[in-house]
Amino acid sequence: MACPINWARRSAGNNRVRAGLALMPPLYRGLLTKATTSLLCILSIRGIRTMSTTSPRMIVRRMAFRFAATLGGHWNPQRPQFSHIVNAASLAMPYLEPYLIDTMRQARARISDPRLLADIDLYIGQEAAHYRQHQQFNRRLADMGYTAVPAMEARLKADYAGFAKRRSFTFNLAYAEGFEAMALAIGHMLIEDREHLFGRADPAVASLILWHFVKEIEHKSATYDVFKALDGRYLWRIWGLIFATVHIMARTRQGYAAMLHQEGLWWHWRSRLATWRLLAHIFRRLTPRFLAVLRPGYDPRQVPDPAWAQAWWRQHHQGDPGLATLDTHRLAHAEPICIAAA
Ligand SMILES: [Fe+2]
Ligand SMILES: [Fe+2]
Repeated sequence: MACPINWARRSAGNNRVRAGLALMPPLYRGLLTKATTSLLCILSIRGIRTMSTTSPRMIVRRMAFRFAATLGGHWNPQRPQFSHIVNAASLAMPYLEPYLIDTMRQARARISDPRLLADIDLYIGQEAAHYRQHQQFNRRLADMGYTAVPAMEARLKADYAGFAKRRSFTFNLAYAEGFEAMALAIGHMLIEDREHLFGRADPAVASLILWHFVKEIEHKSATYDVFKALDGRYLWRIWGLIFATVHIMARTRQGYAAMLHQEGLWWHWRSRLATWRLLAHIFRRLTPRFLAVLRPGYDPRQVPDPAWAQAWWRQHHQGDPGLATLDTHRLAHAEPICIAAA
């Protein structure tokens, strides 16, 4: 595989990149170029730049996640902090995903390619299925008495209504692609680290989250293709990625901090230590994937799909209903194992 220094040389001929670099002081420009090329070489060596996609055609099918009456906020008792990070992120879905759908509907009106139109329709169907499942889960969180749920829902609703109303179509499309690129990176991290993060957790919640991210990997190219067809500007793609990431992470932090506060765990030193260890664990795995998205030549098709996700798709195509109840004691297996089949 060629070192991405070749990419750096090629991009030196890119007028937009060259113009952006020319605006920087020489010292910063030199440091940025060195740091970027070194980093890209490391990513290349570690195999982050890879071959072609193996994602299947997108499929929309209803899942039946059944949450136990005894379900608590710490659905992974070994990892309360991770439970609340996921809980807080889940609160965004019923507002974020309708916003993505609305953006893609606007994009649809500007596109004539039948393949892209079909992909947009499938994407919309998948995202609609996702946020409806999260609505059910979020109602359970509200019923548990977490006051952060209505507070965060009001903030997120206002955020996305504001983006849709006041921001440009280009911004919203870049946000959509930025979010999808981030979701692809997170999906890979969650699946690769599934035993550590979801091992012995509540099967319905673990199955919900892994289902969602397997599906995010399945439609990894949908918004990218639309963004490329309608705009394609590198700086807009990167701005969308940074904005979406900072926005989602900031809102998620507010939500999980509020839930931990309510339980008296936020300032507890053991909880604080566990949070920092967890974040270090997650970001050590996430950061190289995230940085790879910054390459001007990034294409989600270059990111190979995890074998576990491919096995999930095979079982899903066979209509296996057990994927809604994964055996979380056996997540280390190369293929998903369902409780019913165990
Ligand atoms: Fe989704
Ligand atoms: Fe998505």
